Amino acid sequence: MKRLDNKVALITGAAKGMGKAEAQLFAQEGAKLILTDLDMENLDKLERELSEAGVQVLAIRHDVASEEDWTMVAKEAEKVFGKVDILVNNAGILDPDGIEDTTLEKWNRIIGVNQTGTWLGMKHIVPLMRKAGGGSIVNISSIYGLIGSGTSAAYQASKGAVRILSKTAAMEYAAEHIRVNTIFPGAINTPMVSESFSEEVLQELLAPVPMKRIGKPIEVAYGALFLASIESSYITGAELVIDGGWTIP
Ligand SMILES: NC(=O)c1ccc[n+]([C@@H]2O[C@H](COP(=O)([O-])OP(=O)(O)OC[C@H]3O[C@@H](n4cnc5c(N)ncnc54)[C@H](O)[C@@H]3O)[C@@H](O)[C@H]2O)c1
Repeated sequence: MKRLDNKVALITGAAKGMGKAEAQLFAQEGAKLILTDLDMENLDKLERELSEAGVQVLAIRHDVASEEDWTMVAKEAEKVFGKVDILVNNAGILDPDGIEDTTLEKWNRIIGVNQTGTWLGMKHIVPLMRKAGGGSIVNISSIYGLIGSGTSAAYQASKGAVRILSKTAAMEYAAEHIRVNTIFPGAINTPMVSESFSEEVLQELLAPVPMKRIGKPIEVAYGALFLASIESSYITGAELVIDGGWTIP
């Protein structure tokens, strides 16, 4: 018996980075997958790779900030699989600008994807979990949702919101056997980091990290797998920090 046998998992932002690592790991553990992203080139590549390995997978172009898109994704999920057991609200975007440099347009987009997208995901997928008799939601925040950095104003605001939104959702749905937990990654080696920071800036960023290295996407995926699986059946509203010790002090 694999850890996610008979489970249907929906992962947003699955084309690259941590979402991709979660998709590959969940597939190894027996899950059927609904993978969504805006980057269809990489998502289609992943869908082919997984399908060839015998995994049942549905890839959908989806902007998590759009309620219309979530309605469409929920309908497709119901049509193809009849239920969703696991939702990983992983899609996210980063911008390093501080308070004064952030334009309203940028602010609205980052809040729209990271914060509104997480709320919309729960709003539209919880009904499918209810039908299945319960489920597990894993929301991806960031250590920037726990501590201030002096940069990335909109990103930090959105990730802080994901933290408390997850807690209130955990309270709202606990009696319905729908668990809601949050992961707080530190610096993880994904396109988001390699495209946002030069090697020099990255080394500065990593200097205070006690483990003295960047994390790997699979190291976050294992945390998501634990929270998605029955092994965490008595855990809801929890905060799993995966950061090489960055936030210890
Ligand atoms: N990499 C890190 O160091 C780090 C640290 C803390 C938190 N996080 C968070 O982890 C999550 C995954 O990050 P990552 O590093 O793998 O990022 P990434 O940029 O490597 O991958 C994110 C994926 O999300 C997709 N995406 C972006 N906007 C979308 C939208 N509106 N709708 C659907 N898909 C969209 C992208 O196309 C991409 O495939 C994000 O929420 C991010 O904020 C990352």
